[in-house]
Amino acid sequence: MASAALFFVLLALATMLPQTASSEKETHLKVYWHDVVSGPNPTSVPVARAATTNTSKTAFGVVMVIDNPLTEGGSLNSSRLMGRAQGTYIAAGKDQLALLMLMNFVFTAGEYNGSSVAIMGRNAVFTEVREMAVVGGTGVFRWARGYAQARTHTLDLKTGDATVEYNVFVMH
Ligand SMILES: *[C@@H]1O[C@H](CO)[C@@H](O)[C@H](O)[C@H]1NC(C)=O
Ligand SMILES: *[C@@H]1O[C@H](CO)[C@@H](O)[C@H](O)[C@H]1NC(C)=O
Ligand SMILES: *[C@@H]1O[C@H](CO)[C@@H](O)[C@H](O)[C@H]1NC(C)=O
Repeated sequence: MASAALFFVLLALATMLPQTASSEKETHLKVYWHDVVSGPNPTSVPVARAATTNTSKTAFGVVMVIDNPLTEGGSLNSSRLMGRAQGTYIAAGKDQLALLMLMNFVFTAGEYNGSSVAIMGRNAVFTEVREMAVVGGTGVFRWARGYAQARTHTLDLKTGDATVEYNVFVMH
């Protein structure tokens, strides 16, 4: 009895595995992420900070909430809007500026309109390439896993506004 049951379980697995394996694919997404902290219409706002955050060289303890535009090209003004990065980032480095990023890339245009990718990871913003984990997704990105690489495109030290190139590699 037990071995017959085991046989059917193995048979079921054998017929399921090749299908899931062969339908999986890798997608490369490239978008520019715009962190607008200045001006009358910021898309990145501080919501909490520690008593020591203002005197910290690394802004340790500040919590930002973002709804940042994601564009196809590097210009916020003239590039096509592909979606929004919604979530939060936290200055989590006491001695080095290192952010904990928690965000959904929500696509609102193009072939991924309606789908999203969830990204979580450490972002040491003055490092040339920062790698974060893709921990999931929705829509066409169901079952997603992968990684994202961030490279600073522009940083305005006066205003704090930044544009970052994100290359996201997703298996889904
Ligand atoms: C820290 O700086 C912010 C923004 O300049 C200010 O609103 C806040 O009151 C300051 N907090 C402390 C504890 O000094
Ligand atoms: C984008 O547009 C704003 C206002 O419309 C302007 O102040 C800013 O200089 C422009 N930025 C670029 C990079 O063109
Ligand atoms: C994205 O999808 C929504 C819902 O299906 C639709 O209303 C919208 O027009 C689409 N946007 C673009 C730019 O295709």
